[in-house]
Amino acid sequence: MEKLYDQYDRVHDYVRLSITDRCNLRCVYCMPKEGLPFFPTDKVLSQDEIVQMIENFAEMGISKVRITGGEPLLRTDVVDIVRRIKAVKGIDDVSITTNGLFLTKKAKALKEAGLDRLNISLDTFQAQRYKEITRGGNIEQVLDGINAAAELNFNKIKLNVVLIKGQNDDEVLDFLKYTQYHDVNVRFIEFMPIGNSEKTWKKEYVGLQNVFKTCEQNGLEYSPIELKGNGPSDNYQIKGFKGSFGLIHPISSKFCENCNRLRITADGYVKACLYWNEEIDIRKAIPDKKEFQRLIQKLLDRKPLNHEMAMDESDRVIDKAPTWRHMSQIGG
Ligand code: GTP
Ligand code: 5AD
Ligand code: SF4
Repeated sequence: MEKLYDQYDRVHDYVRLSITDRCNLRCVYCMPKEGLPFFPTDKVLSQDEIVQMIENFAEMGISKVRITGGEPLLRTDVVDIVRRIKAVKGIDDVSITTNGLFLTKKAKALKEAGLDRLNISLDTFQAQRYKEITRGGNIEQVLDGINAAAELNFNKIKLNVVLIKGQNDDEVLDFLKYTQYHDVNVRFIEFMPIGNSEKTWKKEYVGLQNVFKTCEQNGLEYSPIELKGNGPSDNYQIKGFKGSFGLIHPISSKFCENCNRLRITADGYVKACLYWNEEIDIRKAIPDKKEFQRLIQKLLDRKPLNHEMAMDESDRVIDKAPTWRHMSQIGG
């Protein structure tokens, strides 16, 4: 099997594929309050284009695909997309990251289509806070969605908790306790300044050191564990608890040296790094495998070693720029 390398010899075997930029929520860390103009339908990759693209990637050594959005379950053909990607020779892990609102309707069909793993965003257990953080969401709907998915034997459901200073960082203990009786992996995530101005972001960013402190202050004994995933989470389990927790800390401690991923945006661009602006329009090359391969390799040959998310504005050397896209237009 071929392998895809970047200029720093990092093997790339994982694609994060955004299938829509639309979302039914407006989470404060992901989209601006006023929303964003969505890509017109004809600018969004079709199901056939997506499948052909994944076939190209599979021949180049990609074996894992995570479907993202916006909110991927808004796409009416998401179940077919999963089924067809799962059937591509060489693809052995297909996962989705979702806000969970449509899981009561779609979890079963997704499982039957071959979906291996599911990550669900849930930043609080409090209904009013959920409404504020998501700008309008109903927490009951996502909790029902999580329960529906929990019945289905997915390979470990993960809950994504982006910590936001003053909004949900007092709920760390509640989330840790949730893992006592629920066999899920709760991931605390550092707020990243993608599409956010550095100034407002800095006020809301919290590092994750507090998670260990909370364990210690409450007599919760934890130890590291291995958990299936392709992403940057470090995982731990509290003694005697059914579930586990993970830490995703791009700011306080970078994990770029192990970066194994490419991103495809819903409008057909490939990004080598979440943070930087560099991207290539890959859509036209989808039917031409050789050209597709050439463009991907070209981008990987220029892939930066790491992001510079936490750089002080005054220190920033603008030879290349951070991405113009908001998180919802990349898929995290
Ligand atoms: P698995 O480990 O395969 O379960 O997936 P994951 O944790 O990478 O996927 P998910 O979509 O749930 O992302 C969780 C968080 O990690 C989100 O906040 C993503 O934005 C962040 N994340 C994922 N990949 C990267 C990355 O390459 N760089 C950075 N900085 N953050 C990432
Ligand atoms: N910082 C960190 N994580 C983010 N996500 C969205 N925006 C941000 C951000 N600014 C997370 C969501 C979702 C995943 C795809 O990315 O919580 O679970
Ligand atoms: Fe890879 Fe960029 Fe994420 Fe670092 S920030 S892990 S280089 S995608």
